[in-house]
Amino acid sequence: MTSVSGADAVILVGGKGTRLRPLTLSAPKPMLPTAGVPFLSHMLSRIRAAGITHVVLGTSYRAEVFERYFGDGSALGLDIEYVVESEPLDTGGAIRNVADHLRADDAVIFNGDILSGADLAALVAAHRTSRADVTLHLQRVDDPSRFGSVPTADDGRVTAFLEKTPNPPTDQINAGCYVFRRSVIEEIPAGRRVSVERETFPGLLERGRHVHGFVDDSYWLDVGTPEAFVRGSADLVTGIAPSAALPGPAGQRLVLDGAVVAGDAEVTGGSTVGAGARVASGARVRGSVLFDGAEVAEGAVVEHSVLGAGARVGKDAVLRGVVLGDRAVVGAGCELLDGARVWPEIELPDSAIRFSSDA
Ligand code: GTP
Repeated sequence: MTSVSGADAVILVGGKGTRLRPLTLSAPKPMLPTAGVPFLSHMLSRIRAAGITHVVLGTSYRAEVFERYFGDGSALGLDIEYVVESEPLDTGGAIRNVADHLRADDAVIFNGDILSGADLAALVAAHRTSRADVTLHLQRVDDPSRFGSVPTADDGRVTAFLEKTPNPPTDQINAGCYVFRRSVIEEIPAGRRVSVERETFPGLLERGRHVHGFVDDSYWLDVGTPEAFVRGSADLVTGIAPSAALPGPAGQRLVLDGAVVAGDAEVTGGSTVGAGARVASGARVRGSVLFDGAEVAEGAVVEHSVLGAGARVGKDAVLRGVVLGDRAVVGAGCELLDGARVWPEIELPDSAIRFSSDA
């Protein structure tokens, strides 16, 4: 793989992650355990593999957690700096806020919640060849109507930033990864909230500046919702989304040290069983994430769900597309379906909730 030289990486990790509550009440989204390690570890390993070593984290919500875990980055072969916003400055404001810490002429900016297989060296090369002010990674997606879309001209120049519409004119969307010339970062107004998507990019186009699109269709996922989070974690475990930070071989399941899975329990679909977690006899866990110390009792079914640290699922309970906060308890025989969320420490008594009469 060609490597990137002369660029810094900036990762925006200051969001509150409201769509992933209650998991993000105790940890910021980029620190959630994902295929056995914090989500950010996968991003950092990708950045390191591309040859970028200086990384600036733009933090705000629960800022201290990042430095406590990653320190100066030397264990990962990186030089990590942390820049804290006392008040969240939004994406563009966060980029402006790290300007004094940049060392190279170009900075590759990442949203801290994207899993992507796009070639970073090719992205930076496209930026330099076109001499653009900013180059955006644009992802081709099957259903662009769920996103704002970003059309480009034949020469690759971005022509517009369009809001969500039922019939977008292109299948290209903003993938949340950009190369900025440092001088363009310095033009963003300092000390106030700025949205890079709503203010900075449209403003650059209005002023006739060169905003370039790097279009790609390799693996890409924004893990900002519970459904996407469990899918991203499962894709990492099965190897669909390759990551050098995966703590074990790719396969149907990742069982971390100290976890206990009964011989006749089924754990499949890229599930992760966290340290000290337990899956009892006859239980079925599919495409799910069990944080450390979570427990699934005999005969329970857990599919496409996240169980927070120390959460417990009772005997014969059924969970599909559910999020349990840390130490939440779902009693025996309960049935929870799509989108249900149980807040930390809450206990649902046995058979308290059921949706089907036959089980
Ligand atoms: P939701 O509340 O669920 O929408 O999540 P979020 O707060 O992470 O917002 P969103 O997914 O739109 O943010 C995209 C990326 O920008 C994420 O990696 C966030 O951490 C980051 N981000 C959003 N707002 C800020 C901010 O004010 N400061 C910093 N430093 N990063 C931010």
